[in-house]
Amino acid sequence: MQGQSRSRDLIIFLNQVLGVRDDYVFEHSRRVAQIAVAIGRRLGLPREDLEELRLAGLLHDLGKADIPDTTLNKPGPLDKDEWEAMRGHPLAGRDMVHRYFNGEALRTKITTGIMFHHERWDGSGYPTGLRGKEIPVLARILCLADVFDAMTSERSYHPPRPVGEARAYICQGAGSHFDPEVVDAFLRTFVEEADMAADGGG
Ligand SMILES: [Fe+2]
Repeated sequence: MQGQSRSRDLIIFLNQVLGVRDDYVFEHSRRVAQIAVAIGRRLGLPREDLEELRLAGLLHDLGKADIPDTTLNKPGPLDKDEWEAMRGHPLAGRDMVHRYFNGEALRTKITTGIMFHHERWDGSGYPTGLRGKEIPVLARILCLADVFDAMTSERSYHPPRPVGEARAYICQGAGSHFDPEVVDAFLRTFVEEADMAADGGG
């Protein structure tokens, strides 16, 4: 099917660009795609949107391919130039996807998902400062999935944080960092499952 071959093509592309030099970004992107689709399903998004969400999740940090490892893995705060480079990765990723596919237009929802995944519900995010529902829904979902996975994964500069701590952070950010409806769908999807597993429930 065309969708499946495009999906395979994108995964090969992602692996070529990111997998070779940064295992974390590659594996993180796969997990973000998985988490985002589960949230999207809980929100009742149509199947076509779920596939676009998956692809946008796989590709969301592609723009980090041009950022040096010393910046990506820096334990302390970033200096001005490093921070500028980091802030550029959503637009760089979108441009890389456009270049790679050379005229074969990806669905707008995929490219906007990549471009806006660091926007925040209250307008304090980047690169454009969009707020609330001005931010495309796929990007609002990716934003939460991205933060949750980044917090609960091991990085060179922090150990994995407990799921409970990540859940508390996300709950506190409902209405400021995150779309409250996306937070609600996330909690119903993941936290109930985690609680049941911890309780030994079925
Ligand atoms: Fe990112």
